[in-house]
Amino acid sequence: MNRIELKDKNLFYIGGIVRDKILGRECFDIDITYIGNAIEFAKTIDNAEIIKINEPFGTVRIKLNGLEIDLASTRDEKYPRPGHLPEVTDIGCSLKKDVQRRDFTINTLAQSLETGEIIDYLGGLDDIKNKKIRILHDKSFIDDPTRIIRALKFSVRFRFELDKHTRKLQEEYLNNINYDMSYKRVKKELIETFNLNSQTAYERFFKENIYKLLTVENIKAPDYNIQTLIEKYPVKDIWLVYLGWMDLNKLPLTKRETKIINDYNYIKNEKFDEDYSIYKAFLNIEKESLLLYAINIDEKPVFRYLDYLSKIKLNITGKDLQKMNIPPSSKYSQCFEYLLKAKLNNPDIDEIKLAKEFFKL
Ligand code: CTP
Repeated sequence: MNRIELKDKNLFYIGGIVRDKILGRECFDIDITYIGNAIEFAKTIDNAEIIKINEPFGTVRIKLNGLEIDLASTRDEKYPRPGHLPEVTDIGCSLKKDVQRRDFTINTLAQSLETGEIIDYLGGLDDIKNKKIRILHDKSFIDDPTRIIRALKFSVRFRFELDKHTRKLQEEYLNNINYDMSYKRVKKELIETFNLNSQTAYERFFKENIYKLLTVENIKAPDYNIQTLIEKYPVKDIWLVYLGWMDLNKLPLTKRETKIINDYNYIKNEKFDEDYSIYKAFLNIEKESLLLYAINIDEKPVFRYLDYLSKIKLNITGKDLQKMNIPPSSKYSQCFEYLLKAKLNNPDIDEIKLAKEFFKL
């Protein structure tokens, strides 16, 4: 934080960085706000190179002494279409107005870059002390329902509780949900929350009906310790191991995310009685999909595959068969299947010897 050699009475660290500093936690995202127009201010900084300007949002990225810094103008916003992106209404507004548009009191703290003084308009310091997540006004979740997931995320991350009134408004929102919202933003918050790999987040997501953001159906989530499963079998898309069994049609999914869900739907009706059928069914299936199978259908074949079968590979290739003067034909793949079955039974087989036997050489 101190590496930033920039001082002005109008410059403040804002939001997550101030909160994390007070909590003694590492913060990767440095947000700085300028009371006034940050773009105009940036042009007056000695030796600063302007890298990028976003005029409508009043933000600017500068490079100063080798360090890239993002500066935002203080701004006010309104939600012409609740649930969707807000519109900027006033660039260069007061610091108080700027923090009043935000999500929770713990995210409204500002700290002067010049003096280090902390400005706390809305009781954020007390709420950090009392471990409370509190929204700033009664329409907060209606304006931005992703804040319901954010509340869960912060509450799990910091072990904070939702304040009583905030919880009541959350329940009210979820009971009257209209599904008119930006699912791109919902997805971003789901990923950040579930990628924490927290069993508590999972259980609360269903117990508190937060899942209603995704579906009108009443759902009972699998009773399974997913956190431990993922600790044992790490994956990239943790969030999909928690949620991939649900209807996620509302979310914009990437190709890989769609493959994980399709792979799971493809294998979920399969039952297995031997290693060979497990191997054939699970080969080329995403690991996340296998974990979904373990959670929702049966963990035994998945553990058998991940712990043992997936490590078994044939070493023999078509070239080896050619060297034995066997002309390429569909017999090659029959031979490989035969060898694979044998190797799954006994990993120490002599593949060349067995191939010769197969071709009766
Ligand atoms: N914010 C908000 N409503 C949202 C998202 C963000 O009011 N739906 C505000 C909050 O004041 C937040 C700031 O924008 O502090 C920056 O958002 P973000 O980077 O997502 O949150 P951080 O608080 O920095 O948390 P993290 O540690 O997860 O980055």
